[in-house]
Amino acid sequence: MRIGLVGVGRIGAFHAATLKGLPAVDQVVVADADPGRAEVVAKELGLEYAADVPALLDSGVDGFVIAAATSAHAGLIEAGLAAGVPTFCEKPVALDLEETSRVVALVEGSTVPVHIGFQRRFDAGYQAAREAVATGELGFVHHVRANTNDAFPPHQSYIPQSGGFFRDCTVHDFDIIRYVTGREVVSVYAAGANRGEAFFGEYGDVDSAAALLTLDDSTFVAVSGTRYNGAGHDVRMELHGSLGSIAVGLDSHTALRSAEPGVAFPDGQPHMTFMDRFQPAYVAELTAFTEVVAGTREVPCTVRDALAAFRIAEACELSRHENRLVTLDEIA
Ligand SMILES: NC(=O)c1ccc[n+]([C@@H]2O[C@H](COP(=O)([O-])OP(=O)(O)OC[C@H]3O[C@@H](n4cnc5c(N)ncnc54)[C@H](O)[C@@H]3O)[C@@H](O)[C@H]2O)c1
Repeated sequence: MRIGLVGVGRIGAFHAATLKGLPAVDQVVVADADPGRAEVVAKELGLEYAADVPALLDSGVDGFVIAAATSAHAGLIEAGLAAGVPTFCEKPVALDLEETSRVVALVEGSTVPVHIGFQRRFDAGYQAAREAVATGELGFVHHVRANTNDAFPPHQSYIPQSGGFFRDCTVHDFDIIRYVTGREVVSVYAAGANRGEAFFGEYGDVDSAAALLTLDDSTFVAVSGTRYNGAGHDVRMELHGSLGSIAVGLDSHTALRSAEPGVAFPDGQPHMTFMDRFQPAYVAELTAFTEVVAGTREVPCTVRDALAAFRIAEACELSRHENRLVTLDEIA
């Protein structure tokens, strides 16, 4: 199988290396808006590179992986559809709701499979939590806590092309909350703050945020996140139910220390990046994509799933701006 990948920045170079290691993949060819970067990454990883996306798609690829900046996703998904090549695209689908909805309509009107990259769906901990909810092991779930704390911010130029904190970062939490609980969000109340470098505020973004979500069965979900978590990359979820509680991401590598005397746990090296926190999940996710390409698997995370998570992010942005509770039926 020959896979073409566009965008070899932080996650694209990592995905290219992961793809190269998959048994189903024979060749990987990369491209980037900066052709010099594509050449460097290709040489480092022992891959082919193409001058641009049309050349990459014309080179006989069986699958197309989009890991370019978010602002480029919609156009690149369209290019994948036009070429008739099964496509994987990193989250989110686009920078705004209108463009996301337009892409959903295009994809749903096409026979070309499009898989959106929410890798937490492939993480063993989140899968076990989903199972615990589905089997009733937790009883009725009354509270959930979900957090995405990056150890350090991305480079400055990433921010204006990201869509902002809720659409770029906590959108992962919004997707996995739906996946784990099997419920839909009905309302949000969200706030954000700038506590770190000034450029976040200059782009109209925030670097730290929180939201209270209410689900359609009256479960309350507290979501929090930051770009500045000195202890490490800390992504967790806790679910509390009438019969039990479960925690995702609580292991010896959790970026947290206990305030209790004599407690050594967690005693391992904390995760510092999304790459080390989710390495097995990314492998499972891209393996699933190769199965989509081979026609042996349905798309495991659709553009419609991505739209649902994006609508929650939109509601949070509106809530933050207007400082009020926003219901999801206000979001078109
Ligand atoms: N699933 C995850 O855990 C995860 C983690 C990080 C980033 N992401 C997503 O991956 C995407 C890339 O993020 P990143 O951190 O690697 O960003 P980055 O800024 O490090 O890299 C982006 C790359 O895309 C290239 N690019 C931009 N526009 C392009 C275009 N039109 N055509 C071709 N190449 C283009 C840039 O030159 C750059 O090399 C974003 O959409 C982000 O939301 C997902």
